[in-house]
Amino acid sequence: MHVGGTIGYKGQPSFKLKHYPAIGRGRKNMKPYVICHMNASVDGRILGSRWRPAENRMAGLFERLHDELGGGSWLIGRVTGSEYARADSYPDRTDQTYPREPWFAQRFAPSEPKAGDAGQSHLKALPLQGGGLGGGDRVASPVRSGCQAPNSPPPRPSPIQGEEVSRPNAIALPGDAAAPGIAYGIVLDAHGKIAWGRSDIGGDPIVAVLTERVSDAHLAGLRRDGVSYIFAGEEVLDLGLALEILNRELGLERLILEGGGGSNGAFLRRGLIDEISLAICPAIDGAKGAPSIFDSSDQDAGTPAPIGSMILASTEFLEGGVVWLRYRLQNR
Ligand SMILES: NC(=O)c1ccc[n+]([C@@H]2O[C@H](COP(=O)([O-])OP(=O)(O)OC[C@H]3O[C@@H](n4cnc5c(N)ncnc54)[C@H](OP(=O)(O)O)[C@@H]3O)[C@@H](O)[C@H]2O)c1
Repeated sequence: MHVGGTIGYKGQPSFKLKHYPAIGRGRKNMKPYVICHMNASVDGRILGSRWRPAENRMAGLFERLHDELGGGSWLIGRVTGSEYARADSYPDRTDQTYPREPWFAQRFAPSEPKAGDAGQSHLKALPLQGGGLGGGDRVASPVRSGCQAPNSPPPRPSPIQGEEVSRPNAIALPGDAAAPGIAYGIVLDAHGKIAWGRSDIGGDPIVAVLTERVSDAHLAGLRRDGVSYIFAGEEVLDLGLALEILNRELGLERLILEGGGGSNGAFLRRGLIDEISLAICPAIDGAKGAPSIFDSSDQDAGTPAPIGSMILASTEFLEGGVVWLRYRLQNR
C-alpha cells in the first residue's frame, strides 16, 4: 500500500501510512513510549565492524535517524554502555552507607505548559541531592533546537562503528514534559560494573539503572562522577519498574531504546517496546552467533515475545541503499 506518497532517496518512493499518529506526544502513561532504534545489516546483525562491504556501514546514519525520530532520552545496555566508560574501576571501599533510593546529580522538573507557552522551556532546575557534579549545579544544556553551542560537549561516538558523530542533545518534544532542553543517557547496569569517569555522554547526563545489591562503594563512585542512578529491583532488574521510575522521577514520556541486542531482547520479551525504527544497511555479517537486533540469554531463548501485532508505519529509502522501516507494535 502506498499512502502518503513521500519521495525517498533519488526519487524512489517512500511509504507512509496515512493515519500515523504523532509518536510519543501528549501521552500521560506511567510507562514512557519506547522506540527501539537500530541500524542493522541485511541479516539483522548489529556489529558494524563485521559488516561487508565495510563502506556500507553508513557513518553517522544511526545518530542522524535518532535526531529524525525527535531525539530525547535514550537507553542502552551495560555492554554498549561500557564502550563509553572512561574509568577502569571505582575504589572498592567506602565508609558511607547510601539509601537504596533514586539519586540525581541533576534533575529537571516538568511544569505544565500553559496556553500560549509554545516554544518556551518548561524546565525548572531542582537543587542537587547530596552534592551533585563536583559540588556545582549544572543547568540544562544550552543546546536547543539542534544547534550546537560553542561550548557543547564532545560528540557521542556511535555504537555502530565507534565513529565520532555529533549528537545535538536536548531536542524539545511537545509531549515530553521533561525533554525540552535535556535528554538523559540511561544505562542498564544491574550489578554496578561500569566505572564511568564522566557524567554525560555527548552532553546527555548519564542515569544508571541498578539493583539494590550494588555496593555502597560503587554508589560513592557514581556520586563522585556526578552520575545519577535509580534502583529497579532488589536482585534482578525489573525493566517495567525501571520505566515507571523514569517516568515518575524524570517525567520521561518517551524513550529511545538503542541496544544492544541483549537489552532490546529483554525489553521485547517483556512487552515493553511500542515501536521499532530499523535502518537496514546494504551489508552482511553472515556469521552464526553474531550480535543481532534482538538477542536472548540461553534461559530466555525459548520464551516468545508477547507481540500481538506489528503494523508498518513508514518506509523510507535513504542514501546508499539503506531502507528505514518503522513499525508500531501491539503487545498482548
Ligand atoms: N547497530 C546498532 O544499532 C547498535 C546499537 C547499540 C549497540 N550496538 C552494539 O551491540 C553490542 C552490545 O550488544 P549486547 O547485546 O552484547 O549488549 P547490551 O544490550 O549493550 O548489554 C547487555 C547487558 O545489559 C544488561 N542487561 C540487559 N538486559 C537486562 C535485564 N533485563 N536485566 C539486567 N541487566 C540487563 C546485562 O548486563 P550484565 O551482563 O552486567 O548483567 C547484559 O549483559 C555492542 O557491540 C554495541 O556496539 C549496535
